[in-house]
Amino acid sequence: MKELTVLAINGSPHSEGGTFQAINIVAKELEKQGIKTEILQIGNKSIRGCQGCGTCKKGSTNGLCVFNDDEVNIAIEKLKNADGLILGSPVYYAGINGTMKSFLDRFFYAGASNLRHKVATSVVSVRRAGGVATFDQLNHFLYLAEALVVPSIYWNVVHGTSEDAIQQDKEGMQILENLGQNMAWMLKMREATKESLKEPSPVASKTRTSFIR
Ligand SMILES: Cc1cc2nc3c(=O)[nH]c(=O)nc-3n(C[C@H](O)[C@H](O)[C@H](O)COP(=O)(O)O)c2cc1C
Repeated sequence: MKELTVLAINGSPHSEGGTFQAINIVAKELEKQGIKTEILQIGNKSIRGCQGCGTCKKGSTNGLCVFNDDEVNIAIEKLKNADGLILGSPVYYAGINGTMKSFLDRFFYAGASNLRHKVATSVVSVRRAGGVATFDQLNHFLYLAEALVVPSIYWNVVHGTSEDAIQQDKEGMQILENLGQNMAWMLKMREATKESLKEPSPVASKTRTSFIR
């Protein structure tokens, strides 16, 4: 079997904060199964929001965003070669942080097709409340990309902002360790069936209605 790799996006401005710790718990489980994780930290970068220009859909940018001066296109290129994706975000006012939102809108609007039928999950770091709303927000991106979203025994939220505090969140630790094991299994299952099981073709022409017509 080829060497499997996972790209992880750390949306936090803190390179070794709670979000990093949460990603790392999953990455350690993947590592035990021989799967490497590359963490790309975007939360401390200047990333503009989507302008809704639609240029990325017209073919002239080769599936990249028209703005080429931040981490978005770098991440799209990395996703092309990765077998899986982890999205990690801190909770800011019961949702993902602003930089992560700007990043994800463009990363997915331009690059979602590179995640189709790949294995993906999201993790959240929270001090107290808003974790599940943030987890839901991250998963909206994954489902629309037709990713194979990894399950665990509860929603992927850990409490605490330091490694020490997170280690004390025993249930959170167990959720993420189990998530990592499930992710490794799904990555290997996907790779093992690549030749023998034909994947469904993408929808040829997406129907778009405004509910009434
Ligand atoms: C602007 C801002 C808003 C926040 N909002 C919340 C919140 O709604 N609920 C909460 O429990 N913690 C909130 N926090 C705390 C962070 O979610 C928490 O410290 C998280 O672990 C930070 O992750 P990080 O260390 O990866 O940056 C907020 C922090 C900041 C800076």
